[in-house]
Amino acid sequence: MRIFLIGFMGSGKTHWGKQVAQRLHLPFYDLDEVIVAAEHRTIPDIFGESGEEYFRNKEKEMLEKLVDENTNMVLSCGGGTPCFFNNIEFMKKYGTVVWLNTQVDVMLHRLMKERELRPLLKDITNEDLKYYIIRKLNERRMYYEQADVIIDKEDAISMNDFIQTVLHA
Ligand code: S3P
Repeated sequence: MRIFLIGFMGSGKTHWGKQVAQRLHLPFYDLDEVIVAAEHRTIPDIFGESGEEYFRNKEKEMLEKLVDENTNMVLSCGGGTPCFFNNIEFMKKYGTVVWLNTQVDVMLHRLMKERELRPLLKDITNEDLKYYIIRKLNERRMYYEQADVIIDKEDAISMNDFIQTVLHA
């Protein structure tokens, strides 16, 4: 069983991914962390030194490698992972894709506190952040919506309900 968690930055992918993996006794991976380990540099450094295109190619490569090496896993993707190349089709083919459709205000609150590791937010002021999230989410929605499972109230759902919803997809 492979479970792919997708959603915007700050939607809760890593938090839920770790918990679901623990409950289901599956190995857990965070795609950003796998890229950082392979590259021996941080995400902002990869973007800054090599550019976003390089990062997206690496992201695709690591996604495919993880799928190749793991028939069972929970993978928390980066916010952009399903929106590049054929990544969303690829993930749907090899597992269950879960979109955390978290409310904008919840993500805004989280991102205000933890933005330094996210190069896409580097030049965006706190005042503009909400509009950035709304705009970018609208651009990406067509990819996120292709998920097999959509979790609408991520901040209000219990772990049991989350797992039941995913298992019955
Ligand atoms: C990105 C999200 C980040 C990371 C990179 C790009 C995006 O992951 O992959 O900074 O394009 O939304 P998180 O969603 O885990 O912050």
